[in-house]
Amino acid sequence: MRNVIFILMVFGAMQVQAQDAVHGKAVYEHWCSPCHAPGGRKHPGTSALEIIYKGEKPAVLEERLDLTPELVAAFVRNGVKIMPPFRKTEISDKDLADLGAYLSPR
Ligand code: HEC
Repeated sequence: MRNVIFILMVFGAMQVQAQDAVHGKAVYEHWCSPCHAPGGRKHPGTSALEIIYKGEKPAVLEERLDLTPELVAAFVRNGVKIMPPFRKTEISDKDLADLGAYLSPR
């Protein structure tokens, strides 16, 4: 029984590491860059975050050091103001986990 529990724990740890930040970057570029790429004039997400944070935090999500997978997931699934919520048919749970890994500081 102990061995089974050990194997389950190892498997669980492997799943945590299985997030693929390279794929997360592709998800980001497809779904998020149109609003969050550098250059506030052309990108409403960057523009809004420039105004909200006034330089206290980077306006570009990829430069942030305080994002966690949980925070990213909350915004992606719920949306905020003009940012739409993304459905699982658009961004799957796996895509979202990879996206969270990509945007969280390493
Ligand atoms: C249609 C444009 C648009 C798209 C697409 C978009 N966002 Fe946003 N996002 C925004 C705007 C605008 C805000 C700021 C909202 C506000 O005024 O609070 C925002 C805010 C956020 C925030 C909150 C940051 C903070 O500190 O308050 C996160 C996190 C975020 N977006 C992540 C994402 C991710 C990840 C994606 C891709 C899956 C994405 N967004 C796609 C427009 C967008």
